[in-house]
Amino acid sequence: MFTNTLFVSYLVCLIVVFFNPIDVVLSGDESILLSCGSKDGGTDSDGRKWESDAKYTSSESKMTKATNQDSSLPSTIPYMTARVFTKEGTYNLSVKKNQRYWLRFYFYPATYPDLNITNSYFSLDVNGITLLNNFSASITAQAAGQAFIFEEYSLAPMDSDNLELTFKPSDKYPGSFAFINGIELVPIPDLFDKAPLVGFSDQTMEMQSSNMQTMFRLNVAGQYIPPKADSDGLMRTWYNDQTYIWGAGIGANIEADDNTTINYKDLPSYVAPPDVYMTARSMGPDAHVNLDYNLTWIFDIDGNFTYLVRLHFCEFVMDSVNQRVFNIYINNQSAQVYPDAADVIAWTKEKNVPTYRDYVIVIDDKLGDKELRVAMSPSPESKPQYYDSILNGLEVFKIEGGKNLAGPNPKIEAAPPNAGSNSKSSQNKDHKTNMNVIGGAAGGAAAFGLLAALCIVVYQRKKRVPGSESHTSSWLPIYGHSHTGSKSTISGKSNASSHISAMAQGLCRRFSLPEIKHATKNFDDSYVIGVGGFGKVYKGVLDNKIKVAIKRSNPSSEQGVNEFCTEIEMLSKLRHKHLVSLIGFCEEDNEMCLVYDYMALGTLREHLYNTKKPTLSWKQRLEICIGAARGLHYLHTGAKYTIIHRDVKTTNILLDENWVAKVSDFGLSKTGPNMENGHVSTVVKGSFGYLDPEYFRRQQLTEKSDIYSFGVVLFEVLCARPALNPSLPKEQVSLADWALHCKKKGVLEDIIDPDLKGKISQECLNKFVDTAEKCLSEVGYERPSMGDVLWNLEFALQLVESPDGASTSDRSYGSEEALLNRNNRSVGSERETNEGSEGSSVIFSQIVNPTGR
Ligand SMILES: *[C@@H]1O[C@H](CO)[C@@H](O)[C@H](O)[C@H]1NC(C)=O
Ligand SMILES: *[C@@H]1O[C@H](CO)[C@@H](O)[C@H](O)[C@H]1NC(C)=O
Ligand SMILES: *[C@@H]1O[C@H](CO)[C@@H](O)[C@H](O)[C@H]1NC(C)=O
Ligand SMILES: *[C@@H]1O[C@H](CO)[C@@H](O)[C@H](O)[C@H]1NC(C)=O
Ligand SMILES: *[C@@H]1O[C@H](CO)[C@@H](O)[C@H](O)[C@H]1NC(C)=O
Ligand SMILES: *[C@@H]1O[C@H](CO)[C@@H](O)[C@H](O)[C@H]1NC(C)=O
Ligand SMILES: *[C@@H]1O[C@H](CO)[C@@H](O)[C@H](O)[C@H]1NC(C)=O
Repeated sequence: MFTNTLFVSYLVCLIVVFFNPIDVVLSGDESILLSCGSKDGGTDSDGRKWESDAKYTSSESKMTKATNQDSSLPSTIPYMTARVFTKEGTYNLSVKKNQRYWLRFYFYPATYPDLNITNSYFSLDVNGITLLNNFSASITAQAAGQAFIFEEYSLAPMDSDNLELTFKPSDKYPGSFAFINGIELVPIPDLFDKAPLVGFSDQTMEMQSSNMQTMFRLNVAGQYIPPKADSDGLMRTWYNDQTYIWGAGIGANIEADDNTTINYKDLPSYVAPPDVYMTARSMGPDAHVNLDYNLTWIFDIDGNFTYLVRLHFCEFVMDSVNQRVFNIYINNQSAQVYPDAADVIAWTKEKNVPTYRDYVIVIDDKLGDKELRVAMSPSPESKPQYYDSILNGLEVFKIEGGKNLAGPNPKIEAAPPNAGSNSKSSQNKDHKTNMNVIGGAAGGAAAFGLLAALCIVVYQRKKRVPGSESHTSSWLPIYGHSHTGSKSTISGKSNASSHISAMAQGLCRRFSLPEIKHATKNFDDSYVIGVGGFGKVYKGVLDNKIKVAIKRSNPSSEQGVNEFCTEIEMLSKLRHKHLVSLIGFCEEDNEMCLVYDYMALGTLREHLYNTKKPTLSWKQRLEICIGAARGLHYLHTGAKYTIIHRDVKTTNILLDENWVAKVSDFGLSKTGPNMENGHVSTVVKGSFGYLDPEYFRRQQLTEKSDIYSFGVVLFEVLCARPALNPSLPKEQVSLADWALHCKKKGVLEDIIDPDLKGKISQECLNKFVDTAEKCLSEVGYERPSMGDVLWNLEFALQLVESPDGASTSDRSYGSEEALLNRNNRSVGSERETNEGSEGSSVIFSQIVNPTGR
């Protein structure tokens, strides 16, 4: 389609605007992206072009624009404009015969002039199939705790060459109207074939001519994969699965090492991106434990429908048959059991080869039971070498029944949307938050580092009555209905003998008080490494070898038992190479202690300025920034909820003895299901000099606030001066302002660390500074994601390693691939190595390495 030059300039353009060059291979040619209600269309934050919908509809309708832009919107296109139908209205799109499509609808149920969004109920038919009925975008978004939503359908090949989308306002509600913000139509390969019907032996169901709705799509034990990182331009979104795991048995995350290449063999690469196959959940190392439970995922779904469950597998640990053999049950019925139990290597013949299995399950509505349960347990009858199971990815699709795919609106809790913030208990929470802020500031001033982390906990737990879990029929797993999470937490809390849930206890170690006393010489003051609002932090040695940092809760502190438990519950689940991890805790005789990794080299700041320590080389600094970025990226996308750090600064980036950067003090704000609009409204917390101006103004927190702070960190690393230095002339006090000012004037080089002068190549410096500058964009949605930041820093690092871009042999195509490889892993994509056309890789490598041209 592209001529060569066009192709190249497109590519250059992508790189210039900081997008992953992988986007290039996305054909997108035949996709239709409509920004509804917009005159000219535009480009979204992924660089995709949306056109105006005007020429696709001739029905009577109104174009409108939302009056407020929620800070969680990924971009203004297509969300900020809408088309509104007060009477039945139709879009007419042309399609190819015999082609399967994704059809996605984007809704932003915000305030629009002269419209009351809560009155909007409508149906949506596509060529006679009902996709939505009595649909309220506002209720659906509220139930999901998000400001915007999208729904994905897969349309079976049709014999018509046009698609009529009919929006019809409900006649049951006065003043009702239909609205739509974006429509996306993407041609896709034939993803579906036939599948066995669970519970009916030897029956299969033909899927090729079924229309479906995507309900869940999970990268099991892996990271969120955004549409632009999906394989073959299919633009799917993959979410982490942990929210859906039932009870305390969450198994263990396993991950293929970086060297692994997924070998698709006969499986088309579009089935799922390599990242899905490179992470998996197994049951854990203990055979006895594993024999005793089912690793179970539970999903809320609509009754009276048939569902397709697709399980993705790839074995990257075992390499022969009968090592890991397990049974699979769907809704307590055998899907894959002895003598036909699942053995991935038996299916694929080799390690690192992916495969998937489809199962169809009929969910009738008896007992009003509207859940789908996927369970796995070892198959002892098969006498495998290990009693364990594995799952890499999971998708659930609802199959059309009688020309219908529509379910009821989800139920939201009885309280009106804003009541939460006025209710008594939440006032109490705010009060606590306030206390914590004060305590935190004192602590932060007294002892930079570990301690502050532990004190400043703002945790807005979703208050839920068991049994009133919101039921969401749409596909909104991002903040999931934490069905299971809340259940297990509740059971943990009600356990009187210990306040800590079994899950947390399973994940971290419980220390006895004598052990702690022994480690710290009975809390000897010479072991103190920090002091904060809530007590002292000691260094200590456990088991005579493991160095740890121990935070001892001051008995008179504000931080009560609940916060202590909350912290353990949350921290014990967060494990990442670039996060300071919780090793265990002690709860005995009114003593409460938390035990952390000890970071031998202290904070990043103490290596930057006002120090006698040797200066860090530019490469070391970049590597530290990259490590910290990885940790933050994990907090933002890899955990159960988006976790916003809230206090990113150089004293919260710690270094272990090998100079590995670890983020500490992750303040545990989570944007969970209780967040109405994808942000947290709260008392402003954080450190001056690093505070996101938008957060300050609006008191609404999103992960983009962390991006801003990280931008300040990047400049701090480059300039080796504090974020705030009141002793300087006024315009120079704030590093963020001063650096941006100097950048604009083109004199940034005057303020970089004198020790670095002349030691950074221009290209590398430009890349770094551009990234930092973008992070400091005034408004959140203009800032890059942590994944993008990471990508750019890695890119900069690559430029250090060959500052002049000289064509030394290790800088040739091979290492380029390695670069892409690494980047893609970190931002959740890996397509380049597998399906990037050779042409694009070569071109890309020339751009990165100009002398190679
Ligand atoms: C949609 O377009 C097709 C061909 O362009 C036309 O035949 C059909 O009548 C149109 N339908 C409507 C409802 O306008
Ligand atoms: C919107 O409509 C609902 C229900 O009809 C009503 O309770 C609410 O007050 C209306 N909101 C506005 C801003 O008019
Ligand atoms: C990756 O491969 C290289 C060379 O093949 C090897 O030296 C290295 O140990 C491998 N790394 C891992 C984590 O297996
Ligand atoms: C499912 O079908 C049964 C029988 O036709 C009906 O009673 C029930 O209300 C239906 N449930 C839903 C959720 O539509
Ligand atoms: C499956 O079994 C579990 C426990 O044995 C039970 O709670 C659940 O309701 C059952 N689910 C179905 C769909 O039968
Ligand atoms: C796992 O679930 C299946 C189906 O519900 C059940 O038959 C089996 O007993 C369970 N296994 C264990 C160990 O709980
Ligand atoms: C439409 O949805 C609302 C909200 O879920 C529900 O209360 C109402 O009963 C539904 N109306 C019809 C006709 O199904």
